[in-house]
Amino acid sequence: MIPKKTVRDVDVHNKRVLDRVDFNVPLDEQLQITDDKRIRESLPTIKYLIGQGARLILASHLGRPKGKVNKGMSLKPAADRLAELLAQPVKMASDCVGPEVEQMAKGLKAGEVLLLENLRFHPEEEENNPEFARQLASLADIYVNDAFGSAHRAHASTEGVAHYLPAVAGFLMEKELNILGNALNNPQHPFIAILGGAKISDKIGVIRNLLNKADTILIGGGMANTFLKAKGLEIGDSLVEAEALPTAQELLSSGSHKLVLPFDVVIADAFDAKAQNHVVQVSQVPPGWRILDIGPATIDLFREKLKGARTVVWNGPMGVFEFPPFAKGTNAIAHALADLQNATTIIGGGDSAAAIEQAGLADKVTHVSTGGGASLEFLEGLELPGVITLNDR
Ligand code: 3PG
Repeated sequence: MIPKKTVRDVDVHNKRVLDRVDFNVPLDEQLQITDDKRIRESLPTIKYLIGQGARLILASHLGRPKGKVNKGMSLKPAADRLAELLAQPVKMASDCVGPEVEQMAKGLKAGEVLLLENLRFHPEEEENNPEFARQLASLADIYVNDAFGSAHRAHASTEGVAHYLPAVAGFLMEKELNILGNALNNPQHPFIAILGGAKISDKIGVIRNLLNKADTILIGGGMANTFLKAKGLEIGDSLVEAEALPTAQELLSSGSHKLVLPFDVVIADAFDAKAQNHVVQVSQVPPGWRILDIGPATIDLFREKLKGARTVVWNGPMGVFEFPPFAKGTNAIAHALADLQNATTIIGGGDSAAAIEQAGLADKVTHVSTGGGASLEFLEGLELPGVITLNDR
């Protein structure tokens, strides 16, 4: 149970409820939603609030419009998709504050739904401007935060507004905090973390925190290169973060018994899906070549390490999985997780969530987080501003 109040703890009947959702969904050039997971994951709270007779006002950001109106980042496609999923009309406001929006919010009847326009069309949202937060709060009687994916942002709609209204968590927020919190603070052992992605600098805090909690950390992706270089290996033109080398060395000496690095890799003569490629030992990367995936022996080693795991957290791909010849490591990890019996398997959001979806295995793991940056900060052990401000139970 999370230490914060949830929608179950407030009477929402006939009340105007401001539900901060994360509808920051990917759109294609025709402004069609290419992945509606975040909208679908917001449905339990939305349906519950409708069922309880709330007058529902939804608010979200989409993309990074930098404080200016940008038609290509309107939330209208999300309103249309939500209306389909709910099989009921969803009103769309032309802004998120101001007299017209106030009228629309006041005019809502119990069970009706209004979606506000992109919060980030106003610079005050990201500035966490108190007056802007107060204006948002004035639309409603109760604030619900269900936007786990944005909970690491201290913005007006995720943090500021909670100072002006009763503030509770929605079901998605509760689920994410429960699952990630249990894995981190009360894991069943063996607890294995798998970390990948391009940069080690993004994940230093996560590695440090997990070295205290996990039994083993398997490292792949571009970030493994910086560790290999820190061990003194020559790795050709592979991506390396030179400024992170001292930290990588320090982590290797303090955590060497837990950190597992690749020992064979797929190398390519260019950063290109069609580049020539072959498998070598990590000590044999020729000049001019770059590491783009973990190799088959490393895949076997990682599979072996995962056998019998009871808790697994995975964040970041093992290679450049957008290029099919370099997706084998990432796909193998997705399959290894999907095959585990008796384990809680958690996929951090962002690229690893995309990878497990691409492999068609999202429903074979315990949880795919809706938060990219938010799940990383959570795994780092940081308190999330969007959670701290919610009312304590
Ligand atoms: C995300 O996609 O991680 C969240 O919606 C937050 O978006 P942001 O990184 O633009 O703040």
